[in-house]
Amino acid sequence: MALRLNRAPARHDAPALPLDTILIGDCVAELEKLPSASVDLIFADPPYNLQLQGDLRRPDQSLVDAVDDAWDQFESFQAYDAFTRAWLMAVRRVLKPTGTMWVIGSYHNIFRVGAVLQDLGYWVLNDVVWRKTNPMPNFRGRRFTNAHETLIWAAKSADAKGYTFNYEALKAGNEDLQPRSDWLIPICSGGERLKGEDGKKVHPTQKPEALLARVLLSSSKPGDVVLDPFFGSGTTGAVAKRLGRHFIGVERDRDYAAAARARIDAVTPETAEAISAAPAKREAPRVAFATLVERGLVRPGAKVVDARRRYEATVRADGTLAFGTVIGSIHRIGALAQGAEACNGWSFWHVEAGDALTSIDAFRDAVRAEGL
Ligand SMILES: C[S@@+](CC[C@H](N)C(=O)[O-])C[C@H]1O[C@@H](n2cnc3c(N)ncnc32)[C@H](O)[C@@H]1O
Repeated sequence: MALRLNRAPARHDAPALPLDTILIGDCVAELEKLPSASVDLIFADPPYNLQLQGDLRRPDQSLVDAVDDAWDQFESFQAYDAFTRAWLMAVRRVLKPTGTMWVIGSYHNIFRVGAVLQDLGYWVLNDVVWRKTNPMPNFRGRRFTNAHETLIWAAKSADAKGYTFNYEALKAGNEDLQPRSDWLIPICSGGERLKGEDGKKVHPTQKPEALLARVLLSSSKPGDVVLDPFFGSGTTGAVAKRLGRHFIGVERDRDYAAAARARIDAVTPETAEAISAAPAKREAPRVAFATLVERGLVRPGAKVVDARRRYEATVRADGTLAFGTVIGSIHRIGALAQGAEACNGWSFWHVEAGDALTSIDAFRDAVRAEGL
């Protein structure tokens, strides 16, 4: 059974896909109905198999609202591994060759999940630590406070090419520092936490929207299809709708699915301007170094140096560099000067402008800004 949401018609060119829909049922069975290689991104927050033994109480003996739901319980590690294998195979079939998959877990399950996904042929790109600013305290004082969860980000296979990673946008949004694999984000609380009329949590493991936003903004584009096989309260769908992505959710529990649908219906998408993909440098029009020389932005005979002025080469009229007796491209000469195998000459070489250095990449940006 499917709950179709009240949304604009789908823009994606895969008509058979139940876009922006919550499929109610077991994820392995539901995913069998979807076409192969049809989704761009998977976010999976499976049962963690927390193996809680008895009630968890605070020092004042009050009961902790722990995750003890039947859907999180498995008979044995073997049973959990078989379940993990089944859903990881099912989502891998529907993932496009250029797509990637995220799975989140804790120490209870993430190592098992990681081993199974590698066995199935996925290729791990990163493990990301979600460090919680406000973790639940450790009440018994017998272990470290469990203050993080781990996400594994994986490509469909080792030779997968062309997957989305919005590196430049992430870097620009991070004060021009490279985006790191440790994310500091609070757990879901306050107004974001869905509560029923009785004031109780609608779902015991609702993930923070900030976490999903970072996942979607880093590894998908507007218009992409994001599949979540363990939809729960619909955090993935809510964030996908807000950020202009399509979603497909699968959830076994009708009450959770209904709560997710109501939640997503209430979401207002951001404007197209606010979410449009920032152009990646790799996608920008190619500009040859020779073009900079032709246009007089870098003069033949000028010296180019690295950022620490350790190496120097001479610019030639044909757009090559001379380093001693060797002549070659900005990349080759950059690599040769450092004794490295490869070098991005655009970021390596600079020209002297007064006392300061200007990267040749800045001149390339200027040429692109002029429309070539
Ligand atoms: C960890 S929760 C996901 C929470 C969700 N990320 C959120 O933010 O609300 C896992 C969910 O998977 C559902 N579930 C468990 N086994 C399932 C299965 N085989 N097929 C579909 N849903 C399943 C559970 O009912 C539960 O809601």
